Amino acid sequence: KRIVILISGRGSNMQAIVQAAKIEQWPAEIVAVISNRNDAAGLEYASSMGIPTSVVVSKNFPTREAFDAVLQATIDSYSPDLVVLAGFMRILSASFVQHYTNRIMNIHPSLLPSFVGMATHKQALDAGVKLHGITVHFVTPELDHGPIIDQVAVKVLATDTEESLAQRLLIQEHIAYPRAVRWFIEGKLKIEGNRVDVDTD
Ligand code: GRF
Repeated sequence: KRIVILISGRGSNMQAIVQAAKIEQWPAEIVAVISNRNDAAGLEYASSMGIPTSVVVSKNFPTREAFDAVLQATIDSYSPDLVVLAGFMRILSASFVQHYTNRIMNIHPSLLPSFVGMATHKQALDAGVKLHGITVHFVTPELDHGPIIDQVAVKVLATDTEESLAQRLLIQEHIAYPRAVRWFIEGKLKIEGNRVDVDTD
């Protein structure tokens, strides 16, 4: 199986996936890491691991559709079976998302359907929830919706700040995201409407 990972910044989730694929010897290859920003720190890591990288600079495009078309062509030049969004900070157009139906996933730092969009840790603290978490899901045209593959919850502590929550959740992301990608690679995910069945025997 061929995996393309999209990043915008640090790329720590991308690193976790690359590491897991290598250590666990997945029957899969990370064939490219693509960024919408030249300065995405994760690009260096990908290159250091011998993974081809591409950059499609989103701010150089006049419209979302124009950017998405070039991004799609770039991704498709690597013929991926799966597209993994890992800290990719761009909203994607419906036609782009539909092109990859059931083979594009994302990680979102909240327990969806709570707290879509940005600043999820602030949203959680403002709402006073006692549980917060992360969600791995297939991507559909509606932002931060789509069939949920996995979720991990953490307790919110009285002392928590946005930063402390982000830190604690990132540890869980680095476990859950590679695991979900591996499930996909191994054909263990069955999508039935909004529900994803994980066949972990
Ligand atoms: C993660 O917290 C992810 O949930 C969010 O953006 C962050 C990306 O971090 N969408 P990284 O680039 O993978 O280090």
